[in-house]
Amino acid sequence: MKAMLDKAAKEGYAVGAFNILDYNSTKAVVLAAEQVKAPVIIQTSAKTVIFWGASAIISWIKQFTDSSSVPIALHLDHCKDLNLITECIDSGWTSVMIDASSKPFEENLALTRQVVEMAQPRNVTVEAELGAIVGVEDDIHVKQQDAHLADPQQAIKFCEEIKLDCFAPAIGTAHGVYKGEPKIAYDLLEEIATKTGVPIALHGGTGLADEVFKKCISLGCAKVNISTQLKYAFIDGFVDYYNANNTQYNPLKVIEAQFNRLTPGIIEKIELFGSSGKA
Ligand code: 13P
Repeated sequence: MKAMLDKAAKEGYAVGAFNILDYNSTKAVVLAAEQVKAPVIIQTSAKTVIFWGASAIISWIKQFTDSSSVPIALHLDHCKDLNLITECIDSGWTSVMIDASSKPFEENLALTRQVVEMAQPRNVTVEAELGAIVGVEDDIHVKQQDAHLADPQQAIKFCEEIKLDCFAPAIGTAHGVYKGEPKIAYDLLEEIATKTGVPIALHGGTGLADEVFKKCISLGCAKVNISTQLKYAFIDGFVDYYNANNTQYNPLKVIEAQFNRLTPGIIEKIELFGSSGKA
């Protein structure tokens, strides 16, 4: 993932990181990326890894990476569990996120350092978070009153102490569906991106306006996370198919309907982020 993000940061675009749910959604992300010739990040939540097992996910990914025309990174999203991070690294994930953002600063730093020391010698990229991003992602729930932006001085110290490949400071975006207009701290984003020089991950991508994405990317976001959008397409694809065909019990048609519902939204985001044609 590091090579993808360094190139994206230099050239002023962002790589889409899409949270997959199963083989079908993995295929939708890869085929969408291939259609527009974009590098892409397949992202798995810790829950998804536990649900399917690391080896099943690796076998889907390998099937695509063996023959795909675009670069594909496999990234573990928000993980607090060092054992699961180790398992993913051992299984072949090319990138991991340690999320120790709920811990005090020094503890977050120490845990992140531990993951960096384990991952980077094996060529595995590390992302870490500072501050608290509001909303629900996997089994991490951050209430509005507990959310707080990253402190710029702490962010700089964090990145001086540890050589991160990707940094996720809380800048005002939220996981899940936005209620009202998000207040993005653009100045904070710019300050952190310029002073740390580390490619920034934009979390909470679903529901942001096009101009918000563009501005964040122009200020240093080289990775954009999209999860809820895929969850909605996955369920809506099923529901709409069923409502229109509720006398047929043809599962492969349902799977096809979900695939067809997922792909256009993924392509639209990749194009918006400017990574089409960059593979
Ligand atoms: P959304 O679910 O809001 O798209 O956020 C995704 C994300 O940031 C995953 O880490």
